[in-house]
Amino acid sequence: MAIRLEVTPKITTNFKSRHILSLDQFTPVSLRKLFETTDRIIKLLKRKSPLEILKRSVITLLFFEPSTRTFGSFSSAIKRLGGQTIDLLDPEKTTSFVKGESLKDTMQVLGTYSDIIIIRHPEKGFVQKAAAVSPVPVISGGEGAGEHPTQALYDTFTLYQKFGKLSHLKGLVLGDALYSRSIHSFIKALSLFPKDVIYLFSPPGLEISYDFERKLHGKIKLVRITRENEIPEDCNFWYTNRIQKERFKSRSVYEKALKDFPVITPELLAKKGNRDMIILDPLPRVGNIDIRVDSDPRSLYLTKQLENGVYIRMALVSLILGKI
Ligand code: CP
Repeated sequence: MAIRLEVTPKITTNFKSRHILSLDQFTPVSLRKLFETTDRIIKLLKRKSPLEILKRSVITLLFFEPSTRTFGSFSSAIKRLGGQTIDLLDPEKTTSFVKGESLKDTMQVLGTYSDIIIIRHPEKGFVQKAAAVSPVPVISGGEGAGEHPTQALYDTFTLYQKFGKLSHLKGLVLGDALYSRSIHSFIKALSLFPKDVIYLFSPPGLEISYDFERKLHGKIKLVRITRENEIPEDCNFWYTNRIQKERFKSRSVYEKALKDFPVITPELLAKKGNRDMIILDPLPRVGNIDIRVDSDPRSLYLTKQLENGVYIRMALVSLILGKI
């Protein structure tokens, strides 16, 4: 049966039947609720018996862009909870979109077959359009150079696990802050908390846009830097993301930006890092972290951060379906 869903109002502690499209919907209270639920899920996973929280639930994964982590971790999360998935990869070639079926009809059909639809798409605004005509909740799995909300949910959970707070943190964000949807959602998430400072170190032309910064209304202090020497030595975290090659219109602009791209190396860590910091990357890593950094205990991008992607997504779908 079709139900009406509001698209963007803020979430407090009630996630039931809500779309997840942007960090703009979140508050410190909603993040706390999600993190507490994630901790509960982590405890439940330690029991021997299989979880049946999503027994009889079916979730569609509608992915118009390639994905390893978002597709894989949502799929893993749903199956670990006893649910099932409908996997629609590359739908412009593999579904009746090819025959000209409208988005509205597609959402109606998939909403009849499943309880949530998770969408990744290259166009900013597409997931919101899909949500507006969907009879069931829609979760953004990342869209274009816009946002990747569920990525930020587990990135901030990983920070919270380490520091026990999301306020009064100092961090370095390296890389493609213009096109990285993960960086956008991460900064928005931290802007919900007081007294965080982020140093932004991007190649020329890939700095965060002033329009994006203006919309943060000064809720977080952003410091743009252009040289390694300007990196403060007392950061709580370094967060990097690859150059978003697929978003460039000009090959020469891409190549120039790539040449100037900051890379995390053991040498840079020795010069500007500290013992208590952590290193995060939503991945994939494409030259932006030297592989010698992987074995450093401060590197969480191939361990804790990845695991948390499954746990946070388990909690999120359970809350949206009102099962926990
Ligand atoms: N972090 C992330 O979104 O990775 P994928 O593109 O592999 O899903």
